[in-house]
Amino acid sequence: MEKGTSVHSVFWFWSQGAPLSGYFSISPGKRWASTTIFVFFFVISFVYWIDKSALTGNYFFRTFVNTLSPKKSSAQVEFPFKFNCSNTNLTCPTNHPVRIEKAESSPVACPEYMRWIHEDLRPWKSAGITRDMVERGRDYATFRLVIVKGKAYVEQIRGTFQTRDIFSIWGILQLLRLYPGKVPDLELMFVCGDETVVKKRDHQGLKATSAPPVFNYCEDDETLDIVFPDWSFWGWPEVDIKPWGTTLEALKEGNKKIKWKDRKPYAFWKGNPYVSQKRVELMKCNRSNKNDWNVRLYIQDWGKESKHGFKNSKLEDQCTHRYKIYIEGKTWSVSEKYILACNSMTLLLIPQYHDFFTRSLVPMQHYWPIKITNDTCRDLKLAVEWGNNHTDKAQEIGEAGSKFIQEKLKMDFVYDYMFHLLSEYSKLLKFEPTIPVGAHEVCSETMACQEGNKFWRIKNFMVESMVKSPRNTLPCTMPPTL
Ligand SMILES: *[C@@H]1O[C@H](CO)[C@@H](O)[C@H](O)[C@H]1NC(C)=O
Ligand SMILES: *[C@@H]1O[C@H](CO)[C@@H](O)[C@H](O)[C@H]1NC(C)=O
Ligand SMILES: *[C@@H]1O[C@H](CO)[C@@H](O)[C@H](O)[C@H]1NC(C)=O
Ligand SMILES: *[C@@H]1O[C@H](CO)[C@@H](O)[C@H](O)[C@H]1NC(C)=O
Ligand SMILES: *[C@@H]1O[C@H](CO)[C@@H](O)[C@H](O)[C@H]1NC(C)=O
Repeated sequence: MEKGTSVHSVFWFWSQGAPLSGYFSISPGKRWASTTIFVFFFVISFVYWIDKSALTGNYFFRTFVNTLSPKKSSAQVEFPFKFNCSNTNLTCPTNHPVRIEKAESSPVACPEYMRWIHEDLRPWKSAGITRDMVERGRDYATFRLVIVKGKAYVEQIRGTFQTRDIFSIWGILQLLRLYPGKVPDLELMFVCGDETVVKKRDHQGLKATSAPPVFNYCEDDETLDIVFPDWSFWGWPEVDIKPWGTTLEALKEGNKKIKWKDRKPYAFWKGNPYVSQKRVELMKCNRSNKNDWNVRLYIQDWGKESKHGFKNSKLEDQCTHRYKIYIEGKTWSVSEKYILACNSMTLLLIPQYHDFFTRSLVPMQHYWPIKITNDTCRDLKLAVEWGNNHTDKAQEIGEAGSKFIQEKLKMDFVYDYMFHLLSEYSKLLKFEPTIPVGAHEVCSETMACQEGNKFWRIKNFMVESMVKSPRNTLPCTMPPTL
């Protein structure tokens, strides 16, 4: 988009539905288009506002009001060692961040998947990232994140599903608590959707360096999205999936309930098939009167589950079969880490999309790969048969997959991935990050202590996933570029 020649809309609003001011620099003849776009965004933001406030109890609105009339914090929150909502007044403490000086160098090497940080940032490596490039990411972004002097500022740009944005921001705030004063100044655009957004084909040849750098949860071979851990690492309250730290421990325990050899000798999958054609197709492999493909598939009805307190959807109770199937949804699926962590051999229907850690999983070492073809049912049957013929090998693959998840994907490394990615990204910026008009400071205290958080276990998950003290070692050592 060229400045001045096309619609240049700026919505400086943090709060959906709060009074928003949009301005357009309109060239003659484009007036109709801009009006349409304005109305469109207004309606979207309004609808989203209604939706969101029902879910989170006016979370953003309260935050917005709060910024209009900032109160002085009289209570000192002893960051980062104590945290008590009754002590705060919904304002960020002024004594943050505390720089921990006694950091020692860490001998720990980062997991291999962190190499992909270099790959994801390669399009901007030679020329750097200009403000204009970041601004062009606005067309896709859910929010803009700015970090200046260790404090975080967020400008909400548009809505997203459920509480994805809230938990993504929460995760970044926890990183700031873990490494106070160490995360460099930056400005970035973050997308919280399912789709990848920056297509390679739009930025080839002469336009190669002009791609907007946009953070997203996944990428594929056709896209330039920069991959960041998804919200589920801090919790998915709508479906009662607890923060990853807690879930990982629960899965470790869950694994002990039934020994591999005593598990059902079939491949298990449970989920929502109606998010992609691939999944709908997979349902045809379920056992029928005609065929038994050694596969047991179950539909997860989240609506029903939520009425029954999610008693039957606990991930740690799903390690009951020797084999588990992973199939992506619309794009990547958050389920992959839960499936791999079961000690069962994962039959991985080769995905198109990747999140940040799956890119260093090795076929036949961590999982059994299966191509999606018309013969998928037969391939699943043969894989199960092979496993039941070679139980030691199958068990070994299952355990290697789980070990990868338990060791390489523990929260410590998830934070280190975020730290290294943000640090490397920040090095490429050709401009000084500034606090944008309309954005306001966010911190753990203001986020966790919102009244609306009583809905959907939001607050519980935040307290549970909160970083309680800074780490006194440096982040792991990055692997060099390939
Ligand atoms: C919160 O702020 C109000 C007014 O600014 C003050 O009267 C009150 O004592 C504060 N509460 C706490 C718990 O600090
Ligand atoms: C939180 O703060 C309130 C008010 O200062 C205090 O009464 C309460 O005991 C504190 N709770 C914890 C768990 O520290
Ligand atoms: C698959 O078959 C089992 C019975 O063998 C049934 O309980 C289950 O609902 C079926 N799943 C699907 C997705 O139809
Ligand atoms: C797969 O099935 C589709 C539809 O049933 C058919 O059009 C296609 O030719 C099949 N592909 C192969 C490789 O058999
Ligand atoms: C498993 O073992 C049976 C019996 O020895 C054999 O018939 C079958 O072909 C084997 N299947 C695979 C996939 O190895």
